[in-house]
Amino acid sequence: MNVLVTGGNGFIGSHTCVELIEAGYDIIVVDNFSNSELENIANIEKITSKKICFYPIDMLDYNGLDRIFKENSISAVIHFAGLKAVGESVKKPLEYYENNITGTINVCKAMRENGCKCMVFSSSATVYGTSSKVPFVETLPTFATNPYGFTKVMIERILNDLCMADPDWSVMLLRYFNPIGAHESGMIGEKPKGIPNNLLPYISQVALGVLPYVSVYGDNYDTHDGTGVRDYIHVTDLAVGHIKAMEYLFSHKGSEAVNLGTGKGTSVLEIIQAYEKACGKTIPYKVEARRQGDVAVCYADTKKAKELLGWETKRGIEQMCRDSWRFTQKK
Ligand code: UFG
Repeated sequence: MNVLVTGGNGFIGSHTCVELIEAGYDIIVVDNFSNSELENIANIEKITSKKICFYPIDMLDYNGLDRIFKENSISAVIHFAGLKAVGESVKKPLEYYENNITGTINVCKAMRENGCKCMVFSSSATVYGTSSKVPFVETLPTFATNPYGFTKVMIERILNDLCMADPDWSVMLLRYFNPIGAHESGMIGEKPKGIPNNLLPYISQVALGVLPYVSVYGDNYDTHDGTGVRDYIHVTDLAVGHIKAMEYLFSHKGSEAVNLGTGKGTSVLEIIQAYEKACGKTIPYKVEARRQGDVAVCYADTKKAKELLGWETKRGIEQMCRDSWRFTQKK
């Protein structure tokens, strides 16, 4: 069975490709390399010993997408492709709305045109906005605080409306918490371009000696040690969640939103300590002002994922840091 993976060359996409191949699916990858290196494809091929069918096409190129469907019989789409940096989205709202929303509409139109109506969409816990009601449960209202977040809120809405209008569609909106870690082979992982915005890639650059220290954004939150608490999830667990979600769609129509998280919160200082243990070095840090837009605590209610998909995470913070460090050192 052929599965089209948009953004399959990226961080979560590449790990999902590996898990799909290992579960016996044939994959077709489409990616424009805007935020990833071509070597990921080669590394997926090395890990799985499979040749990958690959299209270097942008989601804004409708005809290109249509051609992929015309040249292959595709049963389902896992749609990752999109821009994802919160800060950049505030500076470039048009690019974010165009890429993420028009790109998704193009994918859906090409799917409809070619009779494929099964999609797993890469959403985010960002759709819970500034809610302080932890754990975040799927029934909470959705909202966002920046253009990136609004693209996820709007795309969820578009896909829900599509399912309402045509009951043949099956759509899963997967709301990720904080994906970190890397494949255990150390061959694929997160490689942000420029100075990282997210905590884990930043810590790994400090551990490598490329950056001098970690800025801890606030130690006066209402949390056990005053630093921000997040639900960090190993990218391989997350990737497996996509396959469970896709398989659920094979026998269910309509749309569902499901959280993919561990249900456990970890603070910034706890993550720094876990990384120190993983790399055997001291990670220098400085406490600074809170970062605008951050919430104190964010973790998932995982009940729906367990009940609907029979999925839960297997890997803990130690393994996430170990795998991240293994990948960082190999780069
Ligand atoms: N943090 C620091 N220093 C840094 C970077 C982050 O102290 O250099 C702190 C933040 O304040 C926060 C925690 O580390 O408390 C995690 O921050 P990240 O930037 O790694 O992740 P966020 O939780 O802010 O956001 C991530 C993704 C979003 C996604 C969201 C979903 O970046 O795209 O998770 O919950 F929407």
